[in-house]
Amino acid sequence: MVYYFVERMTEDDIEQVQVIERASFSTLWSASTYRHELRSPATSRYIVARASSTPPPPRTERSAPRRGLLASLLPMLSVRQTSVRDFPIVGYGGVWLSVDEGHITTIAVAPAYRGRGLGELLLNGLIDQALDLNADVLTLEVRVSNIVAQQLYLKYGFRPAGTRPRYYTDNGEDALIMWTDPIRSQAYQERLQQLREQLFARLREEANEPGPLRNNLRLGTE
Ligand SMILES: CC(C)(COP(=O)(O)OP(=O)(O)OC[C@H]1O[C@@H](n2cnc3c(N)ncnc32)[C@H](O)[C@@H]1OP(=O)(O)O)[C@@H](O)C(=O)NCCC(=O)NCCS
Repeated sequence: MVYYFVERMTEDDIEQVQVIERASFSTLWSASTYRHELRSPATSRYIVARASSTPPPPRTERSAPRRGLLASLLPMLSVRQTSVRDFPIVGYGGVWLSVDEGHITTIAVAPAYRGRGLGELLLNGLIDQALDLNADVLTLEVRVSNIVAQQLYLKYGFRPAGTRPRYYTDNGEDALIMWTDPIRSQAYQERLQQLREQLFARLREEANEPGPLRNNLRLGTE
């Protein structure tokens, strides 16, 4: 049985995130770039997905607000020491707010965990963060060759809207620009709700059957 859950990234998570990043991308961010992003929560939100063989602690315990008193801090520290930080990070993602646009800046799943719905789980977490930041629409750039990621984005209502020629400096590849319709519209929210129900059913099913992955016959990534 494997449980997956998503929570906000902290500076302690950067090292594990960079391991997944190195396995996923050819241009990398420095640890200080992550730290800068994590210290700008009014415009940037980063999340991680963790895997656990036991049910995760309740969200209220995991994200207890900092109350500034040692008495309130101690229980929180003990929760993190004994549980959440022991669960490996299996994916991460980020969103950055520019006026009313949420830009998905990055999203990646550890290679061994791909094809199990975790990219979708992370994208859902990023949509929630974007809504929390009051974004009205979402946008992103993706390599024209990255069909796997494009399929994920298409599923969540991102539509191609042009290219940025030679956007990627490592190989001069073009970026496809994608945009959603307004994410607060009733139509988008209804579709999102439907997709979430399907995703949670899939994750429940796969948690019980961690055998061969469903994507054996599907396209490779990159
Ligand atoms: C893109 C990425 C995040 C997807 O994560 P994932 O956990 O493998 O994807 P999921 O299992 O959640 O699949 C969600 C959707 O993605 C698409 N997808 C996933 N794997 C696919 C594959 N092998 N072939 C085609 N589409 C695929 C499908 O639309 C899928 O929905 P479906 O299951 O209903 O068909 C992951 O492949 C990854 O980390 N890639 C490397 C980093 C990267 O390219 N990031 C995007 C940068 S823009």
